[in-house]
Amino acid sequence: MKKGRGSVGRSVKTMEWTGDALLLLNQRILPLRESMTSVTQASEVAHAIQTMVVRGAPAIGVAAAFGLVLAVRNALRRRLPWREEFRKASLTLRATRPTAVNLFWATERMRKVAERLPDDPEGAADHLEKEATSIFDEDIATNRRMGAHGAKLLKAGSVITHCNAGALATAGYGTALGVVRAAVAAGKKIHVYVDETRPFLQGARLTAWELGKDGIPCTLITDSMAAVILKAGKVQAAIVGADRIAGNGDVANKIGTYGLAVLCRVHKVPFYVAAPLSTIDPAVRTGRAIPIEERDGREVTHFLGTRIAPDGIDVYNPAFDVTPAKYVTAIVTERGVLRPPFPGAIRRLFR
Ligand code: MRU
Repeated sequence: MKKGRGSVGRSVKTMEWTGDALLLLNQRILPLRESMTSVTQASEVAHAIQTMVVRGAPAIGVAAAFGLVLAVRNALRRRLPWREEFRKASLTLRATRPTAVNLFWATERMRKVAERLPDDPEGAADHLEKEATSIFDEDIATNRRMGAHGAKLLKAGSVITHCNAGALATAGYGTALGVVRAAVAAGKKIHVYVDETRPFLQGARLTAWELGKDGIPCTLITDSMAAVILKAGKVQAAIVGADRIAGNGDVANKIGTYGLAVLCRVHKVPFYVAAPLSTIDPAVRTGRAIPIEERDGREVTHFLGTRIAPDGIDVYNPAFDVTPAKYVTAIVTERGVLRPPFPGAIRRLFR
């Protein structure tokens, strides 16, 4: 990413690095307002990730990488030891959201670069900025490659998606929506059923907005309507993103994904997952070991700040679920399409 602009060819700009600030498209207030929030401290980046100003596994990783650059730049300004500031910022960023492995992947990649750097803070900040910029640029390139591989799986007709795995969830282009974009660019007539995605409404607020920006036809449904649409044979495939994929192919993604996958199996509709290698965590053997974030119950009891449930009601609000690998037809990566059995396919990918 060149300073002062986002990546080229995107109708949606999720974030922009200016050299001393990270501008984030505030995803909490979309689609009502399109507003960039400027963050200049690592703690502000951490807060933006935690409150979902920026969200989606790859976008969280990229934002965290720039958060570490900000930590070192600020250390330089305040004459503080940069390694210590880097370490503290890394801990803060890594404590924001536990499920998306891209956060840990990106901060670890930055740590490895930091480890090799001289103590001179000026040079260190420049090197780290270069690495964060590479993570940003590679994410878009990866998504485009994934799109090219995945587009071949989609036939003209309707697909269903859950949550937002689009440009907004990445540095640009998107994972699941990148596959849709690539299929449309290849001339296929694709229509998308968009699950609203309770409780945070990433589908209704973000995916519907993003597809609209690109002129890709879509229909918004509540999550509970998916069964009827699948039963009626209106959908040729489901395609979703992932926050972490275990070594055996189990997929952690937005709460509700598992239900959709089971419905697809019952109705003999292929269920595809699009995710970069940075989302696959072979160190985690099965989905059971993936930490699942639980979020504030207010996301369930309140709607746009208005309480819609009895005061004080007990709430369970897991942000993600795990879809067992047996329900996944294929995993689209930047290196190609993985088919079951996934353990071997994933092992070969990382060899
Ligand atoms: O809680 P969110 O909005 O960060 O959850 C996002 C998802 O579950 C996405 O599907 C996933 O991160 C893949 S994004 C390319």
